[in-house]
Amino acid sequence: MPAVVIVGAQWGDEGKGKATDLLGSRVDYVVKFNGGNNAGHTVVIGDEKYALHLLPSGILSPGCTPIIGNGVVIDLDVLFEEIDALEARGIDTSKLRVSANAHLIADYNRTLDKVTERFLGSRKIGTTGRGIGPTYADKMNRLGVRVQDLFDEKILRAKVEGALELKNQMLTKVYNRRAVSVDEIVDQLLVHAERLRPMVADTALVLHEALDRDETVLLEAGQATLLDVDHGTYPFVTSSSATTGGACTGSGIPPTRITRVIGIVKAYATRVGEGPFPTELFDEDGERLRTNGGEFGTTTGRPRRCGWYDAPVARYAARINGVTDFVLTKLDVLTGWDRIPVCVAYDVDGERVDEMPMTQTGFHHAKPIYEFFDGWSEDISGARSMDDLPPAAQAYVRAIEKMSGARISAVGVGPDREETVVLHDLL
Ligand code: GDP
Ligand code: IMO
Ligand code: MG
Repeated sequence: MPAVVIVGAQWGDEGKGKATDLLGSRVDYVVKFNGGNNAGHTVVIGDEKYALHLLPSGILSPGCTPIIGNGVVIDLDVLFEEIDALEARGIDTSKLRVSANAHLIADYNRTLDKVTERFLGSRKIGTTGRGIGPTYADKMNRLGVRVQDLFDEKILRAKVEGALELKNQMLTKVYNRRAVSVDEIVDQLLVHAERLRPMVADTALVLHEALDRDETVLLEAGQATLLDVDHGTYPFVTSSSATTGGACTGSGIPPTRITRVIGIVKAYATRVGEGPFPTELFDEDGERLRTNGGEFGTTTGRPRRCGWYDAPVARYAARINGVTDFVLTKLDVLTGWDRIPVCVAYDVDGERVDEMPMTQTGFHHAKPIYEFFDGWSEDISGARSMDDLPPAAQAYVRAIEKMSGARISAVGVGPDREETVVLHDLL
């Protein structure tokens, strides 16, 4: 009865979508347990490229039931746009199940996300502007609107009324925006209610029963460890639990059922939005990583900030998540460098620090201490086993493995499903 978790080990966009898709044909359920349409997972299958935001990547695997868990925040317009776009390309989405307890992103939360960012000025987070933070804030404030509320209009109206009481004050008096009416919001939320109804389920129960039948459940994180609201580089984080703990709370699967935790880590590092990033490059190397790696956001199109591999960050992710296996992605992007720096520790105000500094100030001051590895120039996209990789690439993978706190079980050498070196079976 394996429940396997896939998490991002850096700041997102490590290639979680590809890894999920890789396992999709061998699992019975794929669950998205956190975040919303701030995520962007690109999956390449042959000539076809899919960009998924709200739907779990398992939707592309025919035998697999995709689940949107209770920990997710849902923008219903986006959900149905995504479903329609996939259906138009011949993907069957009829198996999708959505938790009755998942929260809904209302229009006022999208507005608040954008105006708060503007208000913060230089202290902004660089959010995706999708209303994620304000919707999770409502959840914690016990002012949220959930999927199940759509099916009891009286309750829905009462909840929206409750939420708007304070929000309209904020919108009009603090942010100088117009007030919104309860009717307007209720009408917007109800547009898709009947289409959603047959998909709604007690997804925690569905998953328990599946595990009892010895079926395999894959839990796919959005975002990543360093963007996790508790364990990330707070306040420059998203507003959900993107780590293994979040897989439990966001799905209703208890920790005792989880048998494997797969950390996805890029062979270098990227970050979108604001916040500390010790190995960030502002030179030609950074530009080259961005171009070679196609490092532009799947969701917002923003250029991703690029830098070298940061081993303390990977070790931290291994600890926080209990990573059993790493999938090292995008090794092919490093082809062509004479030597490749890897951050092995930090210099924090003149002192060597081997692990993630305890404080925000410490991490802001952290300067990378690099070790240098030989590069390679051969095209590695055709490699399917370690022996197919040039010796320098093998040495790079082995060195990173030694520093990162868990074994590397697969290596990505290209965006396609097939472009993977498998070292140990992931299921
Ligand atoms: P996610 O958010 O973690 O799912 O990652 P994204 O999809 O946002 O970003 C990863 C990008 O890298 C996507 O465009 C993938 O198609 C691509 N990708 C994934 N693995 C590899 C790999 O091993 N090599 C190359 N060149 N691209 C990859
Ligand atoms: P995937 O799943 C990279 C970042 C945003 C911003 C911060 C908060 O594709 O890896 P939010 O809109 O969530 O309140 O923004 O988090 N962010 C991501 N960065 N990949 C993602 O998702 C991200 N989702 C959010 O850029 O810095
Ligand atoms: Mg992404």
